[in-house]
Amino acid sequence: MNSSHAYLSGLFSLDGRVALVTGGSSGIGRAVTGALARAGARVVVVARRPEELAATVEELTGAGCRAAWVSGDLGSREGVRAAAEEAAAVFGEPDILVNSAGINLRPPMAEVDEDVWDTTMAVNLEAPFLLGRRFGPGMAERGFGRIIHITSQQAHRAFVQSGVYGVSKGALESLARSQAEAWSPYGVTVNTLVPGFVMTPLNTRLSADPERVAALAARTMTGRNGLAEDFEGAAVFLASRASAYVTGQSIFVDGGFSVH
Ligand SMILES: NC(=O)c1ccc[n+]([C@@H]2O[C@H](COP(=O)([O-])OP(=O)(O)OC[C@H]3O[C@@H](n4cnc5c(N)ncnc54)[C@H](OP(=O)(O)O)[C@@H]3O)[C@@H](O)[C@H]2O)c1
Repeated sequence: MNSSHAYLSGLFSLDGRVALVTGGSSGIGRAVTGALARAGARVVVVARRPEELAATVEELTGAGCRAAWVSGDLGSREGVRAAAEEAAAVFGEPDILVNSAGINLRPPMAEVDEDVWDTTMAVNLEAPFLLGRRFGPGMAERGFGRIIHITSQQAHRAFVQSGVYGVSKGALESLARSQAEAWSPYGVTVNTLVPGFVMTPLNTRLSADPERVAALAARTMTGRNGLAEDFEGAAVFLASRASAYVTGQSIFVDGGFSVH
């Protein structure tokens, strides 16, 4: 290994680490899964649909990475608990937890009923809380851990009939700060990555409207909307040794959307 490779590897390599990525079979989570696996981690992907999970893992194992999948529904407490145990049984307890699974049901505020509230909070907020409770203390005991939540610019502003989606994401950023406070003294950092508008299956309807897509791109500083792969570098950084002194932070990966 030449000296620059050794230097970069010392900062960013995830060799020997185990990662669990929820929602790792699509969009941002899938890109993050690929990045962590290519950086050396053994990654377990959790989501519901087996075909997408299998395709994600196949692509990575085909590229020489170590990855596996667990099908589970993070929309219920029992589902989260079962998926967590199944995932931890594959490569062992995770050193890195990425909560990317998320839903945006989008009914306008006046049409948000209790079902929409419960479903949104269960997947977007309660699942990350329960997974943190399951894995955070073990990470702290072992003296190393990385928890990365994927929130949204809607944690910071109302946006196209955001209903209660932004509520769940705002609370998730608060959860990250509380988890950071609890576990950072023991080597466990907790941060959030904050996307702007990213062209993924979550946004199929909006993405199909070229005028809206162009208008959103114009609101960034870079002049384009986000792509899932824009999250790869930030995820590897937050999962690695290099970010040991970064905790409790919300890091915007949004092309400048939030500051324009
Ligand atoms: N795209 C954007 O513009 C954008 C902007 C801001 C924030 N975000 C956030 O970024 C994260 C990733 O979004 P994305 O755009 O990559 O979305 P995506 O392509 O729709 O992927 C969502 C993932 O979550 C999984 N998932 C959804 N409900 C689940 C459940 N009940 N149990 C288990 N897994 C579940 C999905 O798999 P299954 O359906 O197979 O379960 C899928 O793997 C989300 O938290 C989202 O809120 C996205």
